[in-house]
Amino acid sequence: CGGESEDAGSGKKDDGKITMGFAQVGAESGWRTANTKSIQEAATAAGIDLKFSDAQQKQENQIKAIRSYIAQKVDIIAFSPVVESGWDTVLKEAKDAKIPVILTDRAVDSKDTSLYKTFIGSDFVLEGKKAGEWLVKEYQGKTDTVNIVELQGTTGSAPANDRKSGFADVIKADPKFKVIASQTGDFTRAKGKEVMEAFLKANPKIDVLYAHNDDMGLGAIEAIVAAGKKPGVDIKIITVDAVKDGMTALSEGKINYIVECSPLLGPQLMDLAKKVVAGETIPQRVLTEETTFTPEQAKAALPNRKY
Ligand code: AHR
Repeated sequence: CGGESEDAGSGKKDDGKITMGFAQVGAESGWRTANTKSIQEAATAAGIDLKFSDAQQKQENQIKAIRSYIAQKVDIIAFSPVVESGWDTVLKEAKDAKIPVILTDRAVDSKDTSLYKTFIGSDFVLEGKKAGEWLVKEYQGKTDTVNIVELQGTTGSAPANDRKSGFADVIKADPKFKVIASQTGDFTRAKGKEVMEAFLKANPKIDVLYAHNDDMGLGAIEAIVAAGKKPGVDIKIITVDAVKDGMTALSEGKINYIVECSPLLGPQLMDLAKKVVAGETIPQRVLTEETTFTPEQAKAALPNRKY
């Protein structure tokens, strides 16, 4: 049948193609949509057979998907762990089945680093620091208290934990910066709007919003406008990601600063997967290169922005 044969016993196709099982977090944000597209397109370009699942931001769904990839005896598993904790058992199951695992985008807190081959993605602590550094510069020489509200990403996720701590580390040097409210918006626009509405009701004076992603920032902008305030002017806004909608709001002055987090992990992931399957040694950590954007820089970058 067309040159493809079944590998006796395993039930796997022996067409020479690598099969990758990818357990995605969900479709919670513009970033995630771009990330999924990057992975699917890169798999096709690399001739890798991709089995893809969307966990709808639920760890139990991701664990189920990984177990099904193990049962299907894929050549390699890649996934973006929705939260940091609770992966040891399923990772051990993959290891026992001799199926290598690559972490993309988000880290796990497993002590045993032999449970995965590499981790490819951003330095989220650094992203939080960059957000804090912009704020410190923006308010340089001023002495009045700066009331900050924070929209955190998904509770327990690496980007929420790290973006919070990186930011806090930088601003703590100056007591005028006060985080007066900090709550999760689960990385979605709808939750960002809802939580910002509550922040606005409870706090008459908000100077700055720090949102862990563009989507929550964009949702919050709707709440700020509805409250009769001008986003970017009455309330300064810093976000993370730099997806098209975020960059558009930045170019219009509704957001003041965006720290980039690149979702385009697909090509690097496929390269690494091929090397792992070929038995080559790869680095334990592969960092994504990223920048930051001011409104002027967003205007210049937007015409060529792919996502
Ligand atoms: O893990 C990366 C984060 O997940 C992105 O910053 C956010 O938009 C996404 O949902």
